[in-house]
Amino acid sequence: MGSGPRRALLLALVAACSVGCARPQFVPPYTEECRSGMYPPKGPTFKGAVTWYTVNLDLPPAKRWTDLLGMIQVVRDLANAFVPSGKLLDIVDRDLPLLLDTLPFPFNEEIRGISAASGVPLGEVLLFNIFYEVFTACTSVVAEDSNGHLFHARNLDFGLFMGWDVRNKSWLMTEKLRPLVVNVDFQRNNKTVFKSTSFAGYVGMLTGIHPHAFTLTMNERFSLDGGYIGIMEWILGKRDGMWMSFLTRSVLENATSYEEAKQKLSQTKLLAPAYFILGGNQTGQGCVITRSRFCCSLHCFESRWSLTTNYDHWKEPLFLDDRRTPAMKCMNQTTRANISPKTLYDVLSTKPVLNKLTTYTTLMDVSEGRLESYIRDCPDPCMPW
Ligand SMILES: *[C@@H]1O[C@H](CO)[C@@H](O)[C@H](O)[C@H]1NC(C)=O
Ligand SMILES: *[C@@H]1O[C@H](CO)[C@@H](O)[C@H](O)[C@H]1NC(C)=O
Ligand SMILES: *[C@@H]1O[C@H](CO)[C@@H](O)[C@H](O)[C@H]1NC(C)=O
Ligand SMILES: *[C@@H]1O[C@H](CO)[C@@H](O)[C@H](O)[C@H]1NC(C)=O
Ligand SMILES: *[C@@H]1O[C@H](CO)[C@@H](O)[C@H](O)[C@H]1NC(C)=O
Repeated sequence: MGSGPRRALLLALVAACSVGCARPQFVPPYTEECRSGMYPPKGPTFKGAVTWYTVNLDLPPAKRWTDLLGMIQVVRDLANAFVPSGKLLDIVDRDLPLLLDTLPFPFNEEIRGISAASGVPLGEVLLFNIFYEVFTACTSVVAEDSNGHLFHARNLDFGLFMGWDVRNKSWLMTEKLRPLVVNVDFQRNNKTVFKSTSFAGYVGMLTGIHPHAFTLTMNERFSLDGGYIGIMEWILGKRDGMWMSFLTRSVLENATSYEEAKQKLSQTKLLAPAYFILGGNQTGQGCVITRSRFCCSLHCFESRWSLTTNYDHWKEPLFLDDRRTPAMKCMNQTTRANISPKTLYDVLSTKPVLNKLTTYTTLMDVSEGRLESYIRDCPDPCMPW
């Protein structure tokens, strides 16, 4: 492979920040009392329930996503916002597609199909799929009630550093992404294999449930020794690690038990560090799997609930970005007997756990096989992240 595509991806990653790097004004940390009575979702922090689509895994990968064609205009709008213009766009469109063949099956074929069906150039769809690996911030909680019933909930925060709109105090990318949020029911033989909250046009997964077996969310792990080294190596041709959201998708699709999921998530070599938050289907099955590229540290249930943001649980969170302390405080106030999707929604609706990057909130109940998700907003006063 020539240097064209490599350069394209490097540039594109850097470009994401140089496109719109107006830095947000400093806003003092804004923390509120733990919310209650937020569920069922209503009011200004709730922008609507997420629409369901079906993806048929019996179809060839290139044909799977055509059900979401109604979303295509939004995918186009997003591509316009994502992708830098001018010369750089030429490189993305011309050279980046060469990297597609280095992605594993079925992801390469699905991306090809989305591009063909939408008319959005291949390089742009690919770029869109890679960006989530780099810019996702989140809060996830797995908890069990006093009967050992497990629940798993998360906020997905996305768009940090991708353009702050000073006038209406919002993140451009976060605004663009809200209309793209979809719930997907992945089926084989007309039966649900797993369900996920995702973005139209995106083939990896960040949030999902394998009904009656396990629930799984992924959070990015910012790390000084380089989330990016593995991605650079991949661009430069060393390709033995797996993209994190592709692993999440594979596990949701093909693992059939908590133990199998745990084993795959802790042992597969990755391109960058990540957190996997895994809940099982019986009491005591909850783990935060903290991954480096090569191995793992498991932090499983101690106090019957486990929480993670984007910092290692044994370190102090960055003071400017501390969603953990407020989330923990609210989890502590919710006694174990009261843990339910309703109370988890309250925790995830408390600022700054809810912030201007928050795109959606998902609630999962493994034994009911239920996943529900809601588009979120955080009107002022609210922390930018
Ligand atoms: C923010 O401003 C942009 C354009 O300036 C507009 O398209 C968008 O709808 C605005 N967002 C909100 C939440 O008002
Ligand atoms: C799935 O359902 C559709 C219509 O509901 C039916 O036409 C099709 O034959 C079914 N496929 C399988 C594999 O059962
Ligand atoms: C799941 O396993 C099947 C059968 O081995 C394989 O064809 C498919 O590509 C796998 N799915 C993912 C997402 O890796
Ligand atoms: C939990 O998952 C295992 C593995 O998939 C399954 O055998 C078992 O029946 C499940 N238990 C419940 C209570 O759903
Ligand atoms: C929550 O409770 C745990 C265990 O009792 C305690 O260690 C922790 O400091 C509490 N955190 C907050 C923020 O209240």
